[in-house]
Amino acid sequence: MLNKKVEDILNVQVEKEGYSSNLYLAMASWAETNGYEGISNWLHAQAEEEREHMLKIIAYINERGGKAIIPAFDKPPTDYDGVKPMFEQVLEHEQYVSALINEIVAVCEQEKDYTTHNWIQWFVTEQIEEEASANNILDKLNMLGDGPLYLFDRDIMNMRGEVE
Ligand code: FEO
Repeated sequence: MLNKKVEDILNVQVEKEGYSSNLYLAMASWAETNGYEGISNWLHAQAEEEREHMLKIIAYINERGGKAIIPAFDKPPTDYDGVKPMFEQVLEHEQYVSALINEIVAVCEQEKDYTTHNWIQWFVTEQIEEEASANNILDKLNMLGDGPLYLFDRDIMNMRGEVE
């Protein structure tokens, strides 16, 4: 049976991953309507990944005898100040998610739930990739400076492969 405190914090994470998915979907939609097709594709793929993270947690809670709660989600922002500020927001958001995952690890240790502690390590590793991926994109955008985003928009999907 899943420890109650662990179950509760995992259910909080269900909402966080679902919100992440919607946040990236909102960004994808903004990119789409601003002519950034490649960036939009990257964000759509990212939104799918976040949904998979949410589903993975739901499946685990239920498999361990807990009860996954499907929550309501806050509305993500509709507009962004530009490509670079948007990716700065992506990095900031991923750093926030990493902190949340670390907190789950801490609760597992406090509650001596070594099964979930072991299971959550997949997310610990995933967050290294998620942050590296956002950092990689920001490095490229910084190199580009005020240059045209056309080539960046064309190449961004290849950059997914570089860090994953
Ligand atoms: Fe599921 Fe990007 O954290």
